[in-house]
Amino acid sequence: MSFHCKACGKASEVRTQKCPHCEAFNTLFEGSVRGGGWVQGSGGAELIEDILGEEVDRITTGTRELDRVLNGGFATAGAYIVSGSPGAGKSTLLLQVMNDLADAEIEKPTGEDETGEPWSILIAAGEETKGQIHGRWKRLMTDAPSRKLQLRLANQTDVFEIEKLLEVHDPDILVVDSAQTLTMSGFDSPAGSPGLIKAATGRLVQTCKRRSVCLIMVAHVTKDDELAGPKTFEHLVDGVMHLSDEDPFRVLRMSKHRFGPTTEVGIFRMGPKGMESVENPSELLLESHLDGVPGCVVACMSDQSAEGAARALMVEVQALTVMDPLGKGPFVSAAGMEQTRVKAVLAVLASRANFPISGQVFTSVAGGVKSKDPGLDLPCALGLLSVSLDQDLPEGFCCFGEVGLAGEVRPPKNITGRIKAAMAMKFSEIMGPPIDPDLEDFIERESGGETSYTEVHSLMEAIEMLEWDVAPKPVKKTRKKRAAR
Ligand code: TYD
Ligand code: MG
Repeated sequence: MSFHCKACGKASEVRTQKCPHCEAFNTLFEGSVRGGGWVQGSGGAELIEDILGEEVDRITTGTRELDRVLNGGFATAGAYIVSGSPGAGKSTLLLQVMNDLADAEIEKPTGEDETGEPWSILIAAGEETKGQIHGRWKRLMTDAPSRKLQLRLANQTDVFEIEKLLEVHDPDILVVDSAQTLTMSGFDSPAGSPGLIKAATGRLVQTCKRRSVCLIMVAHVTKDDELAGPKTFEHLVDGVMHLSDEDPFRVLRMSKHRFGPTTEVGIFRMGPKGMESVENPSELLLESHLDGVPGCVVACMSDQSAEGAARALMVEVQALTVMDPLGKGPFVSAAGMEQTRVKAVLAVLASRANFPISGQVFTSVAGGVKSKDPGLDLPCALGLLSVSLDQDLPEGFCCFGEVGLAGEVRPPKNITGRIKAAMAMKFSEIMGPPIDPDLEDFIERESGGETSYTEVHSLMEAIEMLEWDVAPKPVKKTRKKRAAR
């Protein structure tokens, strides 16, 4: 039997207090590392079909957007990291989720608590004092929990002391806020150093798994990240979530998940009552959209994060062009979208659609949304044409599509998500790039014929479909010298 270090993962023949490889203390453990998780060493190999599968018990939190991202909730003995930049709302979200656990009338999934035993939760805080957390709790949690909840706070950062608290209170969930503040007596490095974070996390993960405690660790991502950032220890846990501030929303995604897919995106809003789940962000974003205003086009937008999860949103793209009243020369202002894409759209309009726009050009995504989505090209082009021609778009119209330099309309990512978002908001016409016939059938079937899809291959075709009066570019007669000879 060999020993493995929880911090660096390397093997040693003998068990010593200090790992001979990374010098972390008390991290050697008998057994092997499997895909970053800690599995106690056990007998021989078995045929896969003979192995008894493991059912994962889940703690459904009742916070809908979080449960959605987690594919049903936290695993009872799962270990998670919630990462994000300072101020993203990690502490607020976790405090609320833990408090609402009692409110949600969720039975504990395991054991002998059909009697309605209260949830026991321990928050080990190293970032804020108990008093500060209590203050926030009092301000945010107006509804008294309907079931008993034992939510305990401790200003404790030492891993061994936290283990003692686990021993005394035997909680269902341990929240550590944050990994970067953890210390380990006997470990010389300062809190926040990579070796210490890995050793401390590794040890806590192991302890919590043994005690069947769900572990949730907050981890900060800072600008000069990576050295002690969550990336360096995410192999130690089962799930890694990232909360990002994407004005006006706070968006939660998973980049790693041992108990489910990483395709769901959770959307919250930070309000006076803390983090609120946003069920229908499109509705919120289109709240002030007015039909019949030239220059305003509804777009099916989709994000595509590095984590792979995408969520489509309906947004309003607005465009305005003015001649140059202040004599500052032509310029392009693009709020919330990529300025280079807007410039390319202007170039395509000028050279492919024979519609040069001069003067000052403003485009924006209403509601403060910021996106690099190439699918906003077509809405942006139609917005610019619409305002220049003083023609509005038909009621119930929305569109998406990447516009290439030849004027062609290309399919961006997540077409199905975009179409579904438009259908959910009952748009009657979606214009976009050519799609699969199956998807067209789906639209017809699901909307009961209420929504139609207009395929366009190029920007010029889109203009034609809208019956806008843009003089087509005169077709150049190419001399066929060779043929003539
Ligand atoms: P916080 O949860 O402390 O962020 P993190 O733990 O990720 O560092 O909260 C972040 C921000 O949210 C903070 O700048 C203040 C703001 N906030 C509100 O706007 N409303 C609220 O009710 C709360 C609690 C915080
Ligand atoms: Mg915090």
